[in-house]
Amino acid sequence: MIQVKNLSFTYPGAQAPTLKALSFEISEGEIFGFLGPSGAGKTTAQKILYKILHGFEGEISIKGKALTHWGKEYQEMIGVGFELPNHYLKLTAKENMALFAAFYPKEKLLRLEDLFEMVGLEAHINKKVEAFSKGMKMRLNFIRAIMHDPEIIFFDEPTAGLDPVNARKIRDHILALRAKGKTIFITTHNMTSADELCDRVAFIADGEILVTDSPATLKHQHGREAVKVELKSGQTEEFPLKELGQNVSFADFLRQGELLRINTLEATLEEVFIQLTGKSLKA
Ligand SMILES: Nc1ncnc2c1ncn2[C@@H]1O[C@H](COP(=O)(O)OP(=O)(O)OP(=O)(O)O)[C@@H](O)[C@H]1O
Ligand SMILES: [Mg+2]
Repeated sequence: MIQVKNLSFTYPGAQAPTLKALSFEISEGEIFGFLGPSGAGKTTAQKILYKILHGFEGEISIKGKALTHWGKEYQEMIGVGFELPNHYLKLTAKENMALFAAFYPKEKLLRLEDLFEMVGLEAHINKKVEAFSKGMKMRLNFIRAIMHDPEIIFFDEPTAGLDPVNARKIRDHILALRAKGKTIFITTHNMTSADELCDRVAFIADGEILVTDSPATLKHQHGREAVKVELKSGQTEEFPLKELGQNVSFADFLRQGELLRINTLEATLEEVFIQLTGKSLKA
């Protein structure tokens, strides 16, 4: 669906490139993610893909056609959930949606009521957006991105600033969009989002992609295949996962006292990120 080869970009007047020869592909119906710390270049890369930033080097093709050859119809095919919601604050939520709806063919538009209900904003439909909290603006931003039922959707930090319940809902909606066959490109510095949502994730730091793979593979390759057993007495011991059922010392250890907990020692995506990039996601 999306093919990017050697994408480089330097902001006008900047000393050094912000993106350095990025290459990745996104298949139809997949959720692909950029995971990286602040300033890595995630938003810059997305802005190029949704044609807000021009003057890149490299090749980008969407559905087999060069990005630069796509015309107005491209904006109808894609949906964009911007990083910083840019609504008209003096207008109501409904008026905001109506303004943006005007860009799309009527027959493509989803029902406004359904969209508002989807993100729990139905009671606020006629409220001015200036009275919205950050999380409410993010949810409005989300439905604005999908109101025309686009095939390809970009979400730049879709759960930033949301409380856990609303973040959960947005993640579920993103998964539901995938189930409908949409192609989705998200950016995040939240490893939980990346881990849960992405079929494949690219680690990006300082404008470079260091690795691209499924979260499960990355954690498997870089984690330890073992369990840590802790007894209420405070005694702990680790045992390899391999043939754990037949491991006599594991069974003996369990009999030594009352069990407090057993944890697998699989790496988290953040630990893998640090191992591979030498950087924390929080930086
Ligand atoms: N308009 C601009 N002009 C010049 N430099 C810019 C501009 N926008 C971003 N940059 C620089 O490009 C780099 C990448 O920024 P970008 O916004 O793409 O990062 P990001 O990975 O999205 O970070 P965050 O997680 O904070 O959103 C940063 O060093 C930033 O300062
Ligand atoms: Mg960003």
